[in-house]
Amino acid sequence: AVVVHRKMKMSGRWIKAMEIVKQFEEKCGTPISKLRQVADAMTVEMHAGLASEGGSKLKMLISYVDNLPTGNEKGLFYALDLGGTNFRVLRVQLGGKDSGIVNQQFEEVSIPPSLMTGTSDALFDYIAAELAKFVSREGTDFQLTPGRQRELGFTFSFPVMQSSIASGTLLRWTKGFSIDETVGQDVVAELTKAMERQGLDMRVSALVNDTVGTLAGGRYTNNDVIAAVILGTGSNAAYVERAQAIPKWHGLLPKSGQMVINMEWGNFRSSHLPLTEYDHALDAESLNPGEQIYEKVISGMYLGEIVRRVLCRMAEEAAFFGDTVPPKLKVPFVLRTPVMSAMHQDTSPDLKIVANKLKDILEISNTFLKMRKVIVELCDIVARRGARLSAAGILGILKKMGRDTIKEGEKQRTVIAMDGGLYEHYTEYRKSLENSLNELLGEEVSETIVVEHSNDGSGIGAALLAASHSQYLEMDES
Ligand code: GLC
Repeated sequence: AVVVHRKMKMSGRWIKAMEIVKQFEEKCGTPISKLRQVADAMTVEMHAGLASEGGSKLKMLISYVDNLPTGNEKGLFYALDLGGTNFRVLRVQLGGKDSGIVNQQFEEVSIPPSLMTGTSDALFDYIAAELAKFVSREGTDFQLTPGRQRELGFTFSFPVMQSSIASGTLLRWTKGFSIDETVGQDVVAELTKAMERQGLDMRVSALVNDTVGTLAGGRYTNNDVIAAVILGTGSNAAYVERAQAIPKWHGLLPKSGQMVINMEWGNFRSSHLPLTEYDHALDAESLNPGEQIYEKVISGMYLGEIVRRVLCRMAEEAAFFGDTVPPKLKVPFVLRTPVMSAMHQDTSPDLKIVANKLKDILEISNTFLKMRKVIVELCDIVARRGARLSAAGILGILKKMGRDTIKEGEKQRTVIAMDGGLYEHYTEYRKSLENSLNELLGEEVSETIVVEHSNDGSGIGAALLAASHSQYLEMDES
């Protein structure tokens, strides 16, 4: 009788757990019809954000980049890329027409988490110090024109209201950063002061978002690149807009007639987004409640955390992991997206990787195969929803640009430069994104649209933009 009782209790729990998963799955549904609504909403918000400042949740920020790299950029330039869990410094020797990038070198440094929520000076001092070290270790295979000041492209991957190509104030922090005193400050001035404190003589020639850098880097090697998307810790997109289609722009019309727009699409939200109670709770408890809603369902910082929240509910309400809730499971952000990805893509028949991750990360060791399969299923639900929604966002941009259909007699190629750890490392996510995009576009149009991985395009892009906005440009041209 005892055995029977235990089994029943088990199956009762199991049924309850499965109900939680099923309800979650239903709420996460992204049928094609819904994706089309999301894409249309994205297009509508793009128009609204371009029409007036504050006209939409989409900031549609003017980047002051009205010319993309041509290949003629020449000289030694630096880039500093700040925006995720790491920052990168690089130097690029540009050889000009026909030679391209002659030499490049980079270093990646992780940012101590305490600096992400500390003081402005501490963060910028740290970055400037690493940059100074990097410069001091320069070999003779890089050549700065004698007598010239070093010039830097600063990739700063947060929403910035720019006032020129090399200045702009921080609107707010996103992702894991939160330093109140920086908001409203000119981030170039902050960096410049920190470089001076380090005794580093360097000038910021271009301030760019990572999406804008990726667009520039992508264009350098491929003329058909017209938009860039980042799927990493955060998510965002930039694209080339007609200057005349930006009603809120009151400046001179650029000669090119074009302007790169940093959409800050992470802040998109729409009633069509399939949000669950877990998403609402995650948002409410985040560093930036009510903001970056789209980012919170599609990007790398949050996917693992969503899975954790569902698992936690299953543990609490259906005793999924036994009579007690595993303490580790209650810790926000312990289940990071790379771990989720590894579990999701576990192809071993007994799901050994899932078992190991549960043990190592969550200190859960009493799982059997059926449970591990459910966990893989959960990862799949969360990743697929994110990937499909980001495909819908891309369709929104293509629609705005008129690239979602084929014009009479034209076979224009459209390339979207893509970067970010989520896209690069989470294969299931990437595949789902690509499949959904193809499905949304249809076979004929799909053939004209290419998503191209632009590996660290944003750093190189920033260096290229520093070159095309160099203080010595006129001297060089004459
Ligand atoms: C966040 C930032 C945005 C950046 C994106 C990807 O959404 O607000 O500026 O481009 O992350 O790094």
